[in-house]
Amino acid sequence: MLGAGALGSFLLCAAAFAQQPTPEQMKIMMKGAAEGARTWAALCESCHGPPNPNTPPRTELLAMTADHIYESLTVGKMKVMGDTISDSEKRSVSMYLTGKFLNAPPLPPAPPAGDAAAPQEAPPPVR
Ligand code: HEC
Repeated sequence: MLGAGALGSFLLCAAAFAQQPTPEQMKIMMKGAAEGARTWAALCESCHGPPNPNTPPRTELLAMTADHIYESLTVGKMKVMGDTISDSEKRSVSMYLTGKFLNAPPLPPAPPAGDAAAPQEAPPPVR
């Protein structure tokens, strides 16, 4: 397959971070499992469930890292889908589908422009 080498080294690199979840990480993954399953059934399965030559099947998603799926949902090919669910749902479904811990920080360092997900902390201007 085209680009298999580059993909391979990406996975190898990402796997170094995804291996061996700590007990604390396991807790987070278990907590998100139900939400992940719900999100998959509600939003992803219709396209990724039935065989379709244009859509990576669930086995292919399983082989990805959680961070790759999360990235796909936030800035990648699945952003259109990701934009319709919460950050928590994106995290849960990424871990649910891969069985790996998501290493992305709790709040994205650079939230997408115009997204109201992050609360504004700025105090009102003093008059
Ligand atoms: C409307 C149909 C549809 C829905 C709904 C959908 N996907 Fe996809 N998804 C696709 C197609 C088609 C591709 C292949 C895109 C490509 O390769 O250009 C894809 C690709 C992907 C990829 C691989 C992208 C990459 O850059 O490697 C991931 C991961 C993914 N989808 C996850 C999800 C998740 C998680 C959900 C649910 C939140 C979801 N998708 C919902 C159609 C869909």
